[in-house]
Amino acid sequence: MVDLIIKQQDIIERILTLELVRVTERAAVAAAGLRGRGDEKAADQAAVDAMRRELNRLPIDGTIVIGEGERDEAPMLFIGEKVGTSTGPSVDIAVDPLEGTTLCAKDMPGSIAVMAVAPKGCLLNAPDVYMDKIAIGPGYPPGTVDLDNTPEENIRALAKAKGVTPGEITVLVLDRPRHAGVIAACRSTGASLRMITDGDVAGVIFTAQADETGVDMYIGTGGAPEGVLAAGALRCVGGQMQGRLILDTPEKVERARTMGVTDPKKKYDMTELASGDVIVSATGVTDGPLLHGVKYRDGLILTETLIYRSSTGTVRRIQAEHRDMRKFRLD
Ligand code: FBP
Repeated sequence: MVDLIIKQQDIIERILTLELVRVTERAAVAAAGLRGRGDEKAADQAAVDAMRRELNRLPIDGTIVIGEGERDEAPMLFIGEKVGTSTGPSVDIAVDPLEGTTLCAKDMPGSIAVMAVAPKGCLLNAPDVYMDKIAIGPGYPPGTVDLDNTPEENIRALAKAKGVTPGEITVLVLDRPRHAGVIAACRSTGASLRMITDGDVAGVIFTAQADETGVDMYIGTGGAPEGVLAAGALRCVGGQMQGRLILDTPEKVERARTMGVTDPKKKYDMTELASGDVIVSATGVTDGPLLHGVKYRDGLILTETLIYRSSTGTVRRIQAEHRDMRKFRLD
């Protein structure tokens, strides 16, 4: 009987895994219609509308725990919003319908539609603040790097664990003035720096495919919601990640407290950012190193999606040809 229940649960999860692909596909196609138009808000709104519509078709009792913001500032996919048909499993959902809004508005590489689903209480309810993050890929001893160590110490430790010199390590950093100190520290070790203008969910995931991407480590400060999404994906492929919320005003501390964060200085491990059986789906909007963007060819819409499942560690790359254009209309 217990076996049967587990199997049924597993079947639900398997079906849900593929259903999530549809959700990020829809959001990506909607945003792609506004690629290169210089209108970040319109592209984001299109992705939000499409993602919400598709989420509401899923047989889940879902709650948005990471979304477009608080209810008063975000009419849709706000934190606390219920989604799904309320008939299936109770799950928490983190969404970023358009990660890299500027990349999409400028038709630059790397924008994606991304979401994570996990059992209730398994995703850190992170407010929309910054987070200090560090991540490396799989295959290194636990604790190889640590948010409390200097970039120099982390680079040297990773180089040692990899059996290379610090000069052979590549660190990915968001290109921001706030990272001047981190950049100088990394350079002092001789490490190479890959600078990105936006999109650090993909930036963290790159560390898990160091052979292909050339990226060994992610360091820096980015969005906290993006940190939770990235941790979900990295958990599925087995890297290491830590994050710490930057709660630098009493208002932020209070907002975080209302969301369940009791220790404002807590250093979260990857499994505290995203625990339980996490499923993460990401579809390319613009072409990028992680995913191809949406393409239009011979009357078809082509999409590419990565779907990660932590309970099995399976990662599927799904290339879809869409013939029925009606499903992309929002009516
Ligand atoms: P948006 O899609 O919300 O624009 O986020 C893009 C992004 O680059 C994230 O990947 C990153 O975590 C965050 O912005 C960094 O924030 P900021 O642009 O304020 O430095």
